[in-house]
Amino acid sequence: MHHVQRRPRTGAPVPPTAQPDRTNPSADWWRQAAVYQIYPRSFADSNGDGIGDLRGITSRVPYLAALGVDAVWLSPFYPSALADGGYDVDDYRDVDPRLGTLDDFDEMAAALHAAGIKVIVDIVPNHTSDRHEWFREALASAPGSAARDRYIFRDGRGEHGELPPNGWTSIFGGGAWERVTENDGTPGQWYFHLFAKEQPDLNWDNPEVHEDFLRTLRFWSDRGVDGFRVDVAHGLKKDMEGIHDDLATIHRADLFDSGEHPLWDRDEVHSVYAEWRKVLNEYNPPRTAVAEAWVHADRRAKYASPEGLGQAFNFDLLQADFDAGQFRDVITKNLAEAAATGASSTWVLSNHDVVRHATRYGLPKGSGRGIAGADGKDWLLDGGDPAEVDAALGLRRAQAATALMLALPGSAYLYQGEELGLQEVGRIPETERQDPTFFRNRGVEVGRDGCRVPLPWKASPAEGSSFGFGSDGSHLPQPAWFKDYAVDAEEADSDSTLAFYRRALARRRELEGPERLEWVGAADDDVLHFARPTAQGSWHVVTNFGDAPAPLPEGEILLATAEVEGGKLPANATAWVRVG
Ligand code: GLC
Repeated sequence: MHHVQRRPRTGAPVPPTAQPDRTNPSADWWRQAAVYQIYPRSFADSNGDGIGDLRGITSRVPYLAALGVDAVWLSPFYPSALADGGYDVDDYRDVDPRLGTLDDFDEMAAALHAAGIKVIVDIVPNHTSDRHEWFREALASAPGSAARDRYIFRDGRGEHGELPPNGWTSIFGGGAWERVTENDGTPGQWYFHLFAKEQPDLNWDNPEVHEDFLRTLRFWSDRGVDGFRVDVAHGLKKDMEGIHDDLATIHRADLFDSGEHPLWDRDEVHSVYAEWRKVLNEYNPPRTAVAEAWVHADRRAKYASPEGLGQAFNFDLLQADFDAGQFRDVITKNLAEAAATGASSTWVLSNHDVVRHATRYGLPKGSGRGIAGADGKDWLLDGGDPAEVDAALGLRRAQAATALMLALPGSAYLYQGEELGLQEVGRIPETERQDPTFFRNRGVEVGRDGCRVPLPWKASPAEGSSFGFGSDGSHLPQPAWFKDYAVDAEEADSDSTLAFYRRALARRRELEGPERLEWVGAADDDVLHFARPTAQGSWHVVTNFGDAPAPLPEGEILLATAEVEGGKLPANATAWVRVG
């Protein structure tokens, strides 16, 4: 496993009888782990229903082991109506029957563990689904009842309560309140939902909500899960006192970093994670947790603190252009932050919410670059014509950025399919789209389906209609060009993106060392150059963001994303070099 631990120096005396290691070095496994995100419905389908499942994952454990990742993070696989791809959870302590059973989960976890791969699951505490038993009970109960208090119900405004309690909007578009029908058939109260209307927000001032999530953390930890990814970690605590304020309140930029925004990143949210940390620390090794918190960089530290979740996603790299200056700033700032909290840094270039980075870096100029599907928004809205993407340039830059990311101290999060160099699917017929952002925000957001299309495992059409994903179709349509990215084709080609990821991950393990880097060269250069010291000497990492070939330090080339000629690194490439 890839973790940072102090090893005895060569020649140090070895104690005659091994003592149990009370400090438990494996507790640090997460610090520099390469974590592979699986979007279960789109990974591998074992039963031919077009939906990926847990047995599909189990069947691909050898693939994950050969890839060389230290852990997998599974997006939700819980029972769900899929109003938001599974982030609308009906029951936190079960498996969606379409994806398998709890026994299948145990089998999958055992197979992953046997291959030395840790298991991280997704916890969605901000909201349940509207089919969760608590929400059904709330609907069946009277206003003011204990069942309603687990959620955020309010009376409407207007003479008959016909207006929502306020004008706040949902992240997925449209209003953030939905009116219910009371038991006697009359129009009733309204409930609050930050996301889709099928995702009612929980009331985190209710002790039962706290207890239930501790139970869920124990449930999965007892089953051997190694860690948790915490969805919308900055959203749980809300101040609904001023809810009759106008819409402007939730858009006031100054409130975002104050800890007093009514909906986001409120200071008291950390009391929840202090409680969780105590439970996670009851286990040996302690269970890890990583916060998905889209907060300002200097407020991230609290989520990542050892008294809190322990780690938080840094999405800065994902939001940066392919630009030396931006990458350097992001890296410097985040390493300093990590040093201050004691957490390790996290790095992400792609996930299930954004346009794949091999496409982002090859988009026509002026397509915009944002997050949550907004990156390349104009291009997607125009119908996402693949002919407009410079896929070769995008892929070349993506490999360069990935090689840079994998050389950084801290943990790297990879998203399924990026190891194939997979491009975003821009063209998906309206009738096939699934993402609620598309439906709630027509014409403004196309949504995130384009990065969630099931993986191609086999290039030959004779292998089934879904490129080996399953035996009968895929729940989102795969374009014909997916065959060019199929696993079997890439396995047979030593120049493929997959071959590059395998080499890079293997090298990364070999080179593990202290979480430190030293910049070499000028800050305003188009070329980033840093050194990573290890006990065996240092290795250097050079990324050429510019147009002209750049000189490399002399030494052994450990990895290069493009051919090095005459000691020079071509444009849009990264090399790792052992020096001295
Ligand atoms: C997170 C997830 C996203 C989901 C949202 C609501 O941002 O990553 O996919 O839609 O939370 O749960």
